[in-house]
Amino acid sequence: MQADKRRPLVAGNWKMHGNLAEARERALAVRAGANGLACELALVPPFLHVPLLAELLRDSPVAVGAQDVSEHASGAYTGEVSAGMLVDAGCRYVIVGHSERRALFGDTDAVVAAKFMAARAAGLVPVLCVGETLAEREAGATGNVVLRQLDAVLAVAGSAAVCAAVLAYEPVWAIGTGLTATPAQAQEVHALLRAHLARKDSQGAAAVRILYGGSVKAGNAGEIFAMPDVDGGLVGGASLDAREFLQICAQAR
Ligand code: 13P
Repeated sequence: MQADKRRPLVAGNWKMHGNLAEARERALAVRAGANGLACELALVPPFLHVPLLAELLRDSPVAVGAQDVSEHASGAYTGEVSAGMLVDAGCRYVIVGHSERRALFGDTDAVVAAKFMAARAAGLVPVLCVGETLAEREAGATGNVVLRQLDAVLAVAGSAAVCAAVLAYEPVWAIGTGLTATPAQAQEVHALLRAHLARKDSQGAAAVRILYGGSVKAGNAGEIFAMPDVDGGLVGGASLDAREFLQICAQAR
């Protein structure tokens, strides 16, 4: 399969920011600027803002995602949100394994794999995040870490399911820090992930989209997205500004 079969995806992870009025204004601004862009767009707000965005973005080129999901389908799990509920509320995508969930909320590789399965079972497209810390990179362990994180999901879900999902390489040291991986650093890890998948499923590996995340801005997106194995971005801080987010999306072709 040719690289041009992979339509880039740029997703804005709003994390835990803003209120309903701001979410409405930002979503409408993104919707207004989204027509005619070459990439697919998604907005990933906090859970409570998902129904509003689903409503505002209906019949638009902008999909809605969630930032996390329960590994359980239903039951006595106070505080959790199931994949079925996210589908019901209008989500297409859900992030699993974001480094903030892994570091702050105890999402182990096994939990991430279970969340991936729960998302798939309900018909969501998981956006599986992998990435190394600065200490891991400095120790030369980047490849081992991201492949361990990927293998944990591959072992449970299989390569067909992983290749039907979206991957995101988010080096922890680049998230919210203003430090970005160089285009070459991003390409190296993206190529490693794709080659690893290709050993199990060459067609699937050629088709799977691998997003880069970590301090993506309007000023650096173009050179990162130009790398052959980078298929768009997962944008945090810069996605809180609709104009800048659209400028970033315009560079994903
Ligand atoms: P920043 O773009 O703010 O570095 O965040 C990246 C991220 O974590 C997206 O999921």
